[in-house]
Amino acid sequence: MRHALIIGGSRGLGLGLVREHLARGWHVTTTQRTASADLDALSRESGGRLALETLDITSVPQAQALSDRLAGRSFDLLFLNAGIMAGRGADLRQVPDDDIQALFLTNAISPIRVADTLARHVTPGGMIAFMSSILGSIGTNDDGRAELYRASKAALNSLIRSFRARHAAAGITVLAMHPGVVRTSMGGPTAPLDIETSVRGVADTIAARWGAGGQAFVDYRNQIIPW
Ligand SMILES: NC(=O)c1ccc[n+]([C@@H]2O[C@H](COP(=O)([O-])OP(=O)(O)OC[C@H]3O[C@@H](n4cnc5c(N)ncnc54)[C@H](OP(=O)(O)O)[C@@H]3O)[C@@H](O)[C@H]2O)c1
Repeated sequence: MRHALIIGGSRGLGLGLVREHLARGWHVTTTQRTASADLDALSRESGGRLALETLDITSVPQAQALSDRLAGRSFDLLFLNAGIMAGRGADLRQVPDDDIQALFLTNAISPIRVADTLARHVTPGGMIAFMSSILGSIGTNDDGRAELYRASKAALNSLIRSFRARHAAAGITVLAMHPGVVRTSMGGPTAPLDIETSVRGVADTIAARWGAGGQAFVDYRNQIIPW
C-alpha cells in the first residue's frame, strides 16, 4: 500500500488531496500549521490510515523536528502543497516589505527547504510534487496579473529545477503542479473548478507520471505547461 506525506493538509486543496488519496486506498500522513477539525474527523474515520503532524513550513527547526519524528519511515509521495497569496492587484510600491518577504519565504523558499529536509524519507522511484501555479509560468505571462504571487511561483519553479538537479541521483520524479483555478479561500467563490475535480485530476496526473523520472510542469489534466 502506498504512503503519501502531504504538507499543508488543514483545508482547501491540501485537505482535498488527503481525502482523495485516502479514497484511493493510500496511507496518508499530513501536516497542519493550524489545528484542523476536518482533519481530526477524517483521521477518526480513516481506520488508522491518516496520521497528523504539525508544521509551519517557514520554520527550518520545525521541519527538522518532523524529519526526526519520522525517522525510519518512508513515503512513496511527498506533496508540498502549502502556499499563500499576497499583494493581488496592488501597486508594488504599496505592498509592505513584510508581506513580500512572507510571500516569497512561504511560496518559494520554504517548500524547497522542507523538501530538502524530508527527501531522505522518499522511497527510490517515488515522487516529490510541489503545488505551483500556471501563474508561475514565465513563458505564458502575457497579462501580468497577480504579479507578486506569480513571481513567487516562478521563483518556486526555478528552485524546483535546482532541487531536482541536486537530487537527480535519487531516482525520484519531480512535478511542479497547477491544480486549476479552484474554489478555495485563495481561489475565491467564483473560481471555475471545485476542489474534488481538481484533486481528482492532480491524483490522476500523479498516477500517470508515476516512475517516469525527471521533472515536469503539468496541470491537473496532465497537460504540460511551459516553464
Ligand atoms: N486555489 C487555486 O485556484 C490555486 C491555483 C493555483 C495554485 N494554488 C496553490 O495551491 C496551494 C493550496 O492553495 P489553496 O487554494 O488550497 O489555498 P488555501 O485554501 O488558502 O489553503 C492554504 C493552505 O496552506 C497552508 N499554509 C499556508 N502557509 C503555511 C505555512 N507557513 N505553514 C504551513 N502551512 C501553511 C494553510 O494552512 P493554515 O490553515 O494553517 O492557514 C492551508 O492549509 C497553494 O500553494 C496555492 O498557491 C491554488
